[in-house]
Amino acid sequence: MFLNRFPPMGVYETLFNFQTATGLYMGDDGTRPWAQGFPLTTQLPDGPAMPSSIEFGPSDLKYPAATGTEPLRKAIADYYNKFYGSNISEENVAVFAGGRPAIFSALMHLQSDVHVMIEETEYTPYYDMLKNLKRAHTLIPSNPNNNFRPKLDDYQAARKNTPGRTLIIKSNPCNPTGVTWTGQQLSDLVAFASNENHAAIFDEAYEFFHKDGPVSVLKFIKDIDTTNLFVVGAATKGLQAPGLRTGWVIAAQKHIEIFRNFSSIAMGGVSRPAQICVTNLLEHARVSLARTAVTNFYNKQRDVYELGLAKCGIELCTGDGGFYHWGRLPRGLSALEFNQRLYKHKAAILPGTLCDMNRLGEKGPHANFIRFSFGPLSPDSNAENIKIIEACVK
Ligand SMILES: Cc1ncc(COP(=O)(O)O)c(C=O)c1O
Repeated sequence: MFLNRFPPMGVYETLFNFQTATGLYMGDDGTRPWAQGFPLTTQLPDGPAMPSSIEFGPSDLKYPAATGTEPLRKAIADYYNKFYGSNISEENVAVFAGGRPAIFSALMHLQSDVHVMIEETEYTPYYDMLKNLKRAHTLIPSNPNNNFRPKLDDYQAARKNTPGRTLIIKSNPCNPTGVTWTGQQLSDLVAFASNENHAAIFDEAYEFFHKDGPVSVLKFIKDIDTTNLFVVGAATKGLQAPGLRTGWVIAAQKHIEIFRNFSSIAMGGVSRPAQICVTNLLEHARVSLARTAVTNFYNKQRDVYELGLAKCGIELCTGDGGFYHWGRLPRGLSALEFNQRLYKHKAAILPGTLCDMNRLGEKGPHANFIRFSFGPLSPDSNAENIKIIEACVK
């Protein structure tokens, strides 16, 4: 063996377990992919039409620019400036093949003394990234004791024990909890992370998925060039196009240059047809429609499943955002046992233990927690889905 072994990211681990148990690929027709984090890729009520073709010519078969094509970088910068009143240019944008490579790249290039601060309940692959990159980190409590709602005070307290340089990594809305920092709370966190010796990766994959409409820290960043802030976005969720594999980082120009150099060594840019398609998805009238349609549709789905899961005895701790419900199974039922029962219905949830950045497993506070995804679910499956859950929690 010449390569270091490492396990798959938790969502994929669940997917592979599901495949072993059922012989099916989760997400295929006939399965109930409640473990998976993809949105519907079809047109939503009152939403824009979904693309079904991409036009390109011979020059689009050439290598793309390492940082992303000019039209896409400009479309991304214009998007944030229009909707959040930010003041960025295409020089502040680097395009990646999805959100994860963008996050991984920012973590990979951190200088060795920088200490990471991360909430205890977070997006599964952050754990793998920190582990693979051997990154020292401090956990900010996010567990049943604080109802998975850490506060700025918790970051300030953690900071007292880590006097050197620190970087926060945070998904907002949070995957898996849906807890979303907005308004003054978010503005205060941006101010905290903008101080000298601080940095932050704000992962906004679920930007469009919030009860009161889309949320971005870019509303609170006056001059990103003077900060060590990295705002990650992607076409994956809000633009309903995970298969286009297009994500981006908004950061100071000096940091974008590092991402450009990285791309020149290790990525070679991102598929031009995908970038053309995403540029079109960001056209102002279309993206305006998408923001409203996504918020409205998923607000309704969040409400339907809030009632349905509560009726099944699942104690929900979900916040106001995302497309997941986060809750505790009744009567000490473990998430692993629950999945064994769900497999018989070609369904599966993501066990909460895979969102535990401590990876305490069955002994930790996440053992009875589940992340239920309603991202890929069509409303006509709602009643049947709830019936299956009701049968499996008994
Ligand atoms: C919190 C979070 N960040 C980023 C991503 C982006 O993923 P991708 O690499 O598929 O664009 C996801 C997708 O599941 C996510 O949940």
